[in-house]
Amino acid sequence: MPACWLVAAVGVRFRHKAAALGRTVAPIQLRLIAFGDKAAYPSPIEGEGHLRPISICPAAKRRYAPRMTQAAFPDLRLRRTRRTGWSRAMVRETHLSPAHLIWPLFVCDGSGNEEAIASLPGVSRWSVDLLVERAKEAVAAGIPCLALFPYTQTDRRSENGGEALNPDNLMCRGVAAIKQALGDDIGVLTDVALDPYTSHGQDGLVNDSGYVLNDETVEVLVGQALNQARAGADIIAPSDMMDGRIGAIRAALEAEGFGHVQIMSYAAKYASAFYGPFRDAVGSRGLLKGDKKTYQMDPANSEEALREVAQDLAEGADSVMVKPGLPYLDIVRAVKDNFAVPVYAYQVSGEYAMIEAAAAAGAGDRDALVLETLLAFRRAGASGVLSYHALHAARLLGA
Ligand code: PBG
Repeated sequence: MPACWLVAAVGVRFRHKAAALGRTVAPIQLRLIAFGDKAAYPSPIEGEGHLRPISICPAAKRRYAPRMTQAAFPDLRLRRTRRTGWSRAMVRETHLSPAHLIWPLFVCDGSGNEEAIASLPGVSRWSVDLLVERAKEAVAAGIPCLALFPYTQTDRRSENGGEALNPDNLMCRGVAAIKQALGDDIGVLTDVALDPYTSHGQDGLVNDSGYVLNDETVEVLVGQALNQARAGADIIAPSDMMDGRIGAIRAALEAEGFGHVQIMSYAAKYASAFYGPFRDAVGSRGLLKGDKKTYQMDPANSEEALREVAQDLAEGADSVMVKPGLPYLDIVRAVKDNFAVPVYAYQVSGEYAMIEAAAAAGAGDRDALVLETLLAFRRAGASGVLSYHALHAARLLGA
């Protein structure tokens, strides 16, 4: 069918819809609306399937938004629907379930070994055998995916982070053990970045002046990602913020027979003060000189986050992440509104520690704080949340 007919047919349909809503809509707007939202506007042409959604027209979406009610008090009493639990359940707009949670776990050496992390009360590093036990608990609680981070033995850390390429490193052993025990009962997401393996705590290779080199680092990250995929990783999650790493990793995965392995890109990752306890957990805090501001994003920026997301999607990311979480819910919403893709948020270690500190200080109820913050991510548009509270929250939700 000629393109002009299609546009005309769509135009007629949307002129009717607009008329029903009492709106006047110019033809150019009709075209924008027609291409704006796949779910709401299936193709009017039989057999044509859906119009391809593009996401550059939020303004058109806004124009077509349902109108707010005109009723005034007392005809309008918004408390009516809030009066009882059953009614609140009926009008609830957002839902949180264990399926929305990804549980980050830290892996350490040895066996039967649990190491507490002082700045993350309630979170431990687990040796591989105990890691598998945690994975079984996650499955029982309905959590679909784990994220692994290694605490590399000190004598295995080096200037170039070569341990990241060792097929027998902690990360690979952890992935393989979980996959062997549980197969596809749970997904395993692996972190790609060099900071758990370098003697300087940076996420990449550094030059003499301490600057993190981009292209040289990407080459190593590709090797690291393949190493993890060979061990059985289901989702490769680059958290390093080098330019061009998603495309390079995607190409390598395809070439090596890992076309089915997903990439969840830490696309909008900010240089944040909320990562401190995590660096204790992977043992990089004391090693890190300086900061990560030459590669992680400036917390002042949001347009730049959209450019990062656009680039990573164009390079083949299956899903994207915003990190940290709660202070960046505006970014989660902006990404969701601008790109019709799965968006994840990472409620990072410092956020976890703040909730625990607040609960310990009697400033709020722990369970309520956990569930409210996780729900807030969903309301902001997140498909899911990485949270150290995941197991606890999943059990609360399942109870
Ligand atoms: C490093 C990495 C960090 C986190 C995940 N991957 C820390 C950093 O960038 O320094 C932080 C997670 C958290 O704080 O919970 N590649």
